[in-house]
Amino acid sequence: MTAKTMEELVALCKRRGFIFQSNDIYGGLQGLYDYGPLGVELKNNLKKSWWNSMVYERDDIEGLDASILTNPMVLKQSGHEDTFSDPMVDCRDCNSRWRADHLTEGQCLSCKSKNLTEPRPFNLMFKTSVGPVDDGSSFAYLRPETAQQIFINFKNVLDSTPHHLPFGIAQIGKAFRNEITPRNFIFRVREFEQMELEFFVEEGSDEKWHKIWTDLRMTWWLEQGISEENLELLTVPPNDLAHYSKATIDIMYKFPHGLEELEGIANRTDFDLGSHTKGQESFDIQAKVSKNNHSNSKLAVQDINTKKWKIPYVIEPSAGVDRGVLALLNEAYKIETLDNGKERTVLSFKPHLAPIKAAVIPLKRNNEQLVAAATSLKSSLQKKQLGRIIVENSGNIGKSYRRHDEIGTPLCITIDFDSLENNTATIRDRDTMEQKRVLIEEIPQYVADHINNN
Ligand code: GAP
Repeated sequence: MTAKTMEELVALCKRRGFIFQSNDIYGGLQGLYDYGPLGVELKNNLKKSWWNSMVYERDDIEGLDASILTNPMVLKQSGHEDTFSDPMVDCRDCNSRWRADHLTEGQCLSCKSKNLTEPRPFNLMFKTSVGPVDDGSSFAYLRPETAQQIFINFKNVLDSTPHHLPFGIAQIGKAFRNEITPRNFIFRVREFEQMELEFFVEEGSDEKWHKIWTDLRMTWWLEQGISEENLELLTVPPNDLAHYSKATIDIMYKFPHGLEELEGIANRTDFDLGSHTKGQESFDIQAKVSKNNHSNSKLAVQDINTKKWKIPYVIEPSAGVDRGVLALLNEAYKIETLDNGKERTVLSFKPHLAPIKAAVIPLKRNNEQLVAAATSLKSSLQKKQLGRIIVENSGNIGKSYRRHDEIGTPLCITIDFDSLENNTATIRDRDTMEQKRVLIEEIPQYVADHINNN
């Protein structure tokens, strides 16, 4: 049986230490969540997998880690100051506020009143003051997408690396949006992480690359263990496109609350590099920077033959880390009925994503020899650099197996008294529940193969 209501996932996440309501002891703060001991591992593993596929496995993409605080000029030029808003309505009866497009029945979701104000735009960007004087004259935005810092670093990266078009810049990091109605757990929050690639291509090849990246991104999600029947591609209708987009394809996932966007792949054309080039030229003129500097500051590439400057087009696959984590949890969550009629809860993560890769369990709690053997095996396993390996000195094997099924640990390794005699230990597989005895010296390679090849 598969049971996946959002409530079940939220309860499991809290109980086992994946995700907690943020600022909880002071009543929480809406739209913010904290990742606990297992959540941080799962999230880091997802980001690592993305970084591997984008940066390490390719030679045409470089990484970046840029600042979160953003000069308002950047977001003026990008169009966010003017257009990055959602339509907001107030309920005149209970004073609650809603995103107009979420009120599909045209009534307040709280008191069901239809006595609503006309929708008006609400800008989603957070502001903060910069420097010691808080008089509003010097402020910065918390970036609403990681993309803009990639665009404004385009020239820095191009000039410091050997790339020509097509090439890309990848970044993972926090983004902030003052969502009118954050909801559905970590699906729509006010502070979240994005994994974004800006892939710069020649104008005219953009549609071809848009298709290539859509296919690559679908394949990647499948490799993370998301099943095909829960994914769909949606071509965003022209009237719903973001201000910078010529075409966007969304990868939609069947979340517990419905089919919603997991990642968007946009053809941003030359919009962003073009408007930052214009922005920079007018900044240079105001700052009286020599005209000769203009070509240096153009966010453009120079044609080797014609020497003409051309602004590249951009294809942008932009995925939400938190939505990725929610999809992984939803996908992995299973309640199975065993042959003996009992139930077990399993998180069947792909091994490379599992928060804990293996648990080494001494059969008897605090037994010096067993704990020493378990600790020694843990350090050999640790040398394989697979991720988190733990020694669990619980003395209750059945309970440990149940816990590790529920948090998705692919392998449990039990050290018993025979282990001290014949140097073997029992390895139990999370998915099949099969157990086999393996020579202790062969276990690190066994575990590495299991984690890397499944
Ligand atoms: N740079 C393009 C961009 O930011 P977007 O569709 O607004 O495009 C990209 O966001 C991805 O970021 C989404 O597909 C989603 O996964 C994630 N995302 C956006 N807003 C979010 C929010 N409030 N909470 C969690 N994830 C969010």
